[in-house]
Amino acid sequence: MSHPQTLTWRPLGPPDLPAIEALHRRAIGAAGPDVVKPEGPDFFPGILGGRGKAVGAFEGDHLIAYGILQHVLPDADDPRPLLGLPDSVLRVKLAGASVEPEARGRGLQRALIEERVALARATFKDTPILIYATSAPANVASWSNLMAANFTVRAVKLYYGGYPRYVMVHESVTQDLDGSEVILDPADLDGQRHFLAQGWRGSKMVRDQGGVRIAYTAPRPALRAAAAAERP
Ligand SMILES: CC(C)(COP(=O)(O)OP(=O)(O)OC[C@H]1O[C@@H](n2cnc3c(N)ncnc32)[C@H](O)[C@@H]1OP(=O)(O)O)[C@@H](O)C(=O)NCCC(=O)NCCS
Repeated sequence: MSHPQTLTWRPLGPPDLPAIEALHRRAIGAAGPDVVKPEGPDFFPGILGGRGKAVGAFEGDHLIAYGILQHVLPDADDPRPLLGLPDSVLRVKLAGASVEPEARGRGLQRALIEERVALARATFKDTPILIYATSAPANVASWSNLMAANFTVRAVKLYYGGYPRYVMVHESVTQDLDGSEVILDPADLDGQRHFLAQGWRGSKMVRDQGGVRIAYTAPRPALRAAAAAERP
């Protein structure tokens, strides 16, 4: 992948903990938990202690962006049943990223997403894996960057104490779509759930006079089932 220049990228380890925690706090700023989850004191030490991996970008010796990949996950955070996947598939989650406010808009989050997808594939190359992420409907930058990297919305669930989150799954193969599309407002959770329950996927950000919205697309099997159900 091509990284923005003048930066040094490297895996992060336990000595980087204070810089990660400080950047996490700066990146969240005034955003509430409806947009970004503030991590508890055990989260980053747990990741660096073996529950996952972290990668960072440095300008000089200053950490300006990091991304977390987590493969030891709580039982409650398991999208496999809703996707019909067996327990033998390992869950690997893109579990948070932060970019220094002054460094935003330079493609660093996109680079972090691509980096972690590649890292997950390389680390677990002999294991079937599900790469996923959660993203707040209100966090447009987050979900639109995930969509640009081939993640699609597969569910809207309540996470982190009752806040809505998209469950977004990395699609490694091109979807079998028939071109049917509906454009939905991210704030319309019931409307999105209605289509998601029929197998539609949120796959593209649409920006027009209606604001920022999401194109949901129908996979062929869902359409066939719907057509069959409508027949007398
Ligand atoms: C979300 C975050 C990581 C984005 O970082 P970033 O490096 O600025 O993002 P990138 O430069 O890779 O992506 C920029 C893209 O997002 C879009 N974008 C950024 N902010 C946006 C916003 N508020 N609304 C709509 N689009 C936005 C840009 O238009 C750009 O897309 P384009 O290249 O097609 O124009 C950063 O804002 C951040 O650290 N936020 C706080 C923590 C957070 O929300 N983390 C993610 C969830 S854990």
